Amino acid sequence: MAESIHVPLASLLPSTSAKENPAAVSLGGLGGDRTFYIETFGCQMNEHDSEKVVGVLLRRGYRQVTSPDDARLVFYNTCSIREKAAHKVFSRLGEFNPKNNFGRESGKVIGVLGCVAQQEGEEIFERAPWVSLVCGSASYRKLPLLLARLEAGENRVAGLETDTDETFETELTQRDHPFRAYLTIIEGCDKACSYCIVPYTRGPERNRASDSILREVRELADVGYTEIQLLGQTVNSYRDPSNRHLTFSELLLAVAEVRGIRRVRFMTSHPRDLGGDIVDAIDASPALCDHIHLPVQSGSTRVLRAMQRTYTRDEYLEKIRLIRGARKQISITTDIIVGFPGETEQDFEETLSLLDAAQFDGGFSFQYSPRPHTPAAIMADAVPEATKSHRLQVLLERQRAIQVQRNQSLVGQVFEALVEGASRREMQWTGRTSSNRVLNFTSSRPDLLGEYVRVRVTGAGPNSLTGEESIE
Ligand code: 5AD
Ligand code: SF4
Repeated sequence: MAESIHVPLASLLPSTSAKENPAAVSLGGLGGDRTFYIETFGCQMNEHDSEKVVGVLLRRGYRQVTSPDDARLVFYNTCSIREKAAHKVFSRLGEFNPKNNFGRESGKVIGVLGCVAQQEGEEIFERAPWVSLVCGSASYRKLPLLLARLEAGENRVAGLETDTDETFETELTQRDHPFRAYLTIIEGCDKACSYCIVPYTRGPERNRASDSILREVRELADVGYTEIQLLGQTVNSYRDPSNRHLTFSELLLAVAEVRGIRRVRFMTSHPRDLGGDIVDAIDASPALCDHIHLPVQSGSTRVLRAMQRTYTRDEYLEKIRLIRGARKQISITTDIIVGFPGETEQDFEETLSLLDAAQFDGGFSFQYSPRPHTPAAIMADAVPEATKSHRLQVLLERQRAIQVQRNQSLVGQVFEALVEGASRREMQWTGRTSSNRVLNFTSSRPDLLGEYVRVRVTGAGPNSLTGEESIE
């Protein structure tokens, strides 16, 4: 085991006066070089958690820098959904191993946040003894306290509880996206998909009260955000814990009605809790985006049962029919896992035929990766890696052809795009349609960032559309 080189934060940080740092609280006479760097791995929930962590740090008087080399505090907000993601974290941590004399200056304070922190717990201190803070995503409410303990000179602090029924709300969230504001409405997950580590790393489901959600949406609208994305592992399983008892679709409509909000998105929906009321709400409100992310995971009922997904292939396809029956053209994206233990060639064929039947507008596919603490990790009949990767290629090709065809059918139509970026080429912009498609387009107008522009589609590829501003 490598020798421990913990340096108490207090000794690293020369003091500054509170005057220089009016937002700082509980500085305990510290200050000065309170620089921090944070890198985020994984899903949008993690991205948004990092925005909140940054908010907590800024409030405590820290300053964010863009390179770990310039930072005293280096945080990794980690993902453990698949093995590869978890490995990446340990390779990052390895860069700070004082034994490897190849670069990074020692004496930094290293913190591991998020799902790997929750999964590995204090073992991280064993594997990487130069780490000073380990805090799982279900314990972020403790983060200010843990930071205060580090500042007071403790060497190793950990927050690993998952039994809180509270959500992680902060007074200040440092949002990174200029136009779209993420907002977590459910933390954790009460489903028990047999391959998934999330219920373990993020703990049981905690719902945020609708009043608190709506208050934050109004504040976001007041400072100029026009697009809100509601987040949750199973966002549509939302149950309002307050005595207003809003259903998820009622919450969607209430968020969409906030003055200034032009787009409302939500991710990720679980098929079992997707009812007609959600589709009706999307139809009823222009601000509710025409997109549902609805992971199917497999097209074989047998595999779905082993995955404990709680629906059959036919029940899933019934949900697809419900969505396709809407007045709006709602796009549907999905997640698929190939090579789940016991998945036969026949099961995989059923996944391919489900792609044809569902006609997804996009999606993500993954090779099954066994995760600790999950029932699937000890299932028999593991599928060989080569078979998994072959199936993934076949799946990607099939889905790509579907997307090309679906996107091409949109050529000639006009869509509203929220402009998110400018291309280096003059007059070229990139935006997103309500259906969440990337739309690259030309316009001779300047300063379109953050604007809503009507664009006629002139071309289509598998993953994006091209077009020109429509002046009709
Ligand atoms: N192996 C592969 N993919 C997984 N996912 C979740 N757990 C695993 C795993 N053990 C995928 C699912 C989920 C997405 C976020 O990640 O498809 O919807
Ligand atoms: Fe994981 Fe299933 Fe919960 Fe999604 S619904 S986070 S796949 S356990």
